[in-house]
Amino acid sequence: MFYFIKKKIINLYIKIRIQINRFINFYLINLKFKNDENLSIEFNKCLQELKINGITKLPIKLDSIDQLNIKEFVEGKQMSFKDVIKIKNPYSKPDKFGKISASIDVNSSIISELFTKDLFRLIKNYYGKTFWVRNAPTLLVDLKKYRLEEKSQKLFHIDFAERQLSIMIFLADVEKNSTHMEYIKKSQKNSWIFKSVVRENYNFKKKVNEEMSKKEIFKMVGKKGDIYIFDAGNGLHRAIYGDDRYLLHFNFAQMRSYAEFDTNFEKKKNLDNESFYHWNFIYNEDVKNKLKLNSFEEKNIKWS
Ligand SMILES: [Fe+2]
Repeated sequence: MFYFIKKKIINLYIKIRIQINRFINFYLINLKFKNDENLSIEFNKCLQELKINGITKLPIKLDSIDQLNIKEFVEGKQMSFKDVIKIKNPYSKPDKFGKISASIDVNSSIISELFTKDLFRLIKNYYGKTFWVRNAPTLLVDLKKYRLEEKSQKLFHIDFAERQLSIMIFLADVEKNSTHMEYIKKSQKNSWIFKSVVRENYNFKKKVNEEMSKKEIFKMVGKKGDIYIFDAGNGLHRAIYGDDRYLLHFNFAQMRSYAEFDTNFEKKKNLDNESFYHWNFIYNEDVKNKLKLNSFEEKNIKWS
């Protein structure tokens, strides 16, 4: 009984905190864009686009992707590709959605290749503060021939973590008839304060239809090596299922409570925002499982 009441109180506390955070974001999202003088011209342009449209392509090309034959890599069930991508655990067969997803080892060289100071500053500027890596980077493969069902991602939705930024790196070309993402540009400007964000909810769907009729839908397709960043926590997006797609997926969180990495992070001394400690995240299965069961367990909450 006591446990039940405690849980109810915690849940109420969390709900209030989420709404407060949405209120703060309502203000932050609509702040006027300012250039960051420490960023290159290309990255400032990117930051501007991200703030205006909620989605943009990063001006980065990763040399190691050129050498990667992802189809052979996946079919051969290899655990590593020349240290570029190392998989944490052997991945299983595609599920009924035709999906394979595998966590990537943090020591994969592609991670250090991607995370330059510019990218760090871009994300920091978008949030206006430091941020967290939400979960382990993932190799995501969509295989059409194994797909028996489509996931609910086919409905327009926002992701769980408020203002979550996601990065997707294409490991093979993504054509219009491939599985790809659609994003309603500028929809990240919406505040979801006091609104249901359940994708099947009548009012939410009504809002989606309104947005679709007023705003441009962006199809996230492109060439092998293209890298996109988008606000998946506030902007409406959905999956269109089609031919095979191969990508790497990263998520960032604005608040510690959304992050599922190194639980001892705060205990580390001499943290310096610019020193890339943020990237030294550790993927912890226990934390992930706990968070899956109850993302807001009290001990995991540390509001930043
Ligand atoms: Fe999503």
